[in-house]
This record gives sequence, structure tokens and C-alpha cells, in this order.
Amino acid sequence: MRDIVCNCQMVDRNTINKAIHEKNATSIEEIRRYTGANTGCGKCMPYINSILDSEVPKVVQKEKSQRKFKLW
Ligand code: FES
Repeated sequence: MRDIVCNCQMVDRNTINKAIHEKNATSIEEIRRYTGANTGCGKCMPYINSILDSEVPKVVQKEKSQRKFKLW
């Protein structure tokens, strides 16, 4: 079952996660650009921000560990 984040544009959680993890989206503006979410009524903004709050630190942590590894 799809976890719809933005009902106006029918954007699901998986699409938001892909934008964050594969396109390095870190802001609501980038989520809008890459997915089209939050370009209608705007009610999904708190949900998208909560996803950004939980997922972006994972990307940053992953990049830090990869950067550390590349030094060797
Ligand atoms: S629910 Fe996302 S813009 Fe309306």
C-alpha cells in the first residue's frame, strides 16, 4: 500500500525518500522541484518537513562515513 504524502500531486513516501537519498534533496524547495509534492494546497508541508528531519541526517551520516573511507 502506498503511503501518500501529498494528496494533491499523489506523491508517496517512497518518492520523497528517493529524492532525499538519490538526488540529495535537503529542503522543501528541492522536494518540490524533484517530486512535484507540495505544489498544490500546501497542507503536506509538515509531513514533508518531518520526513526531511528524519531522513536528511541519515544521508549526512552516510556521506561522512564515505568521505572518511575515501581518505584511505
Ligand atoms: S497535499 Fe500536498 S500540496 Fe496539497
